[in-house]
Amino acid sequence: MRMVLLGAPGSGKGTQCGKITGRYAVKHLSSGDILRRQRKLKTQLAQKAASYMDSGELVPDDIIVRIMAAAIRETSDGGFVLDGFPRTIDQAAELDRILEDADGGIEIVLNLKVDDDTVMRRLTGRRVCPECGAVYHVRTLQPKTAGRCDRDGAELVQRTDDKPEVVANRLQAYHRQTKPLVQYYRQKGILHEMDAGREIEEVTKAVFAVLDGFYAGRDDKAVCRCEQRGSQ
Ligand code: AP5
Ligand code: MG
Repeated sequence: MRMVLLGAPGSGKGTQCGKITGRYAVKHLSSGDILRRQRKLKTQLAQKAASYMDSGELVPDDIIVRIMAAAIRETSDGGFVLDGFPRTIDQAAELDRILEDADGGIEIVLNLKVDDDTVMRRLTGRRVCPECGAVYHVRTLQPKTAGRCDRDGAELVQRTDDKPEVVANRLQAYHRQTKPLVQYYRQKGILHEMDAGREIEEVTKAVFAVLDGFYAGRDDKAVCRCEQRGSQ
């Protein structure tokens, strides 16, 4: 399955990708996570991207396309869910070109819809594990031990771009540059939209309903982990 998860900052793309990779045999490719990993490694491209990320602007298309093209090529069986890429019409056109040279284009796009006030509440309360990337929230998704990751015990941190003024810039960039992608994929007939303002589990149910339907119409059902262990 070659899939794109669209949605504003804080719509729950990373959270739902965690659920998706637990159920379906696809690789999670998050452009934001890849950029943050590369920043730690101080790669040249990521250093060029740093100031844009910290101010809440989009990184220039040529930088992110090079990074994501490499990540897509590294997926051995071709099954992936893209989270945070593409984010502009030009990136989407580049993605189409990259996939044309490989096995085929994007098959399914999910758009997680959420309002700006909800985004602000979610992002300013988000905490993340710097070691494994696990995502928490100070009110709605607390770790078992305050301030510590459930998986590895590392001290949770706030992303530098989750300060209210930077979140406001990210929302602006989303409305101006990313939202047009909804129409881009609607025209291709592969867009599914869902209300992502609901509880995490409710959103996951809606996501699984769409993806189970997608797999039901295909021969390669074995790539759905749910087929291997029974439904749910
Ligand atoms: P990136 O890391 O992709 O950030 P983003 O798109 O702004 O999205 P987030 O990761 O902030 O939110 P999310 O939708 O993953 O939500 P999450 O599940 O964590 O990008 C960062 C930066 O990198 C960009 O600003 C840009 O500079 C650059 N960049 C990246 N890709 C680029 C590209 N293609 N082009 C150019 N530049 C690019 O959830 C958020 C919080 O809400 C968590 O605390 C979670 O617990 C909570 N939550 C989630 N779902 C729910 C729910 N249903 N109910 C209640 N709480 C919920
Ligand atoms: Mg994310």
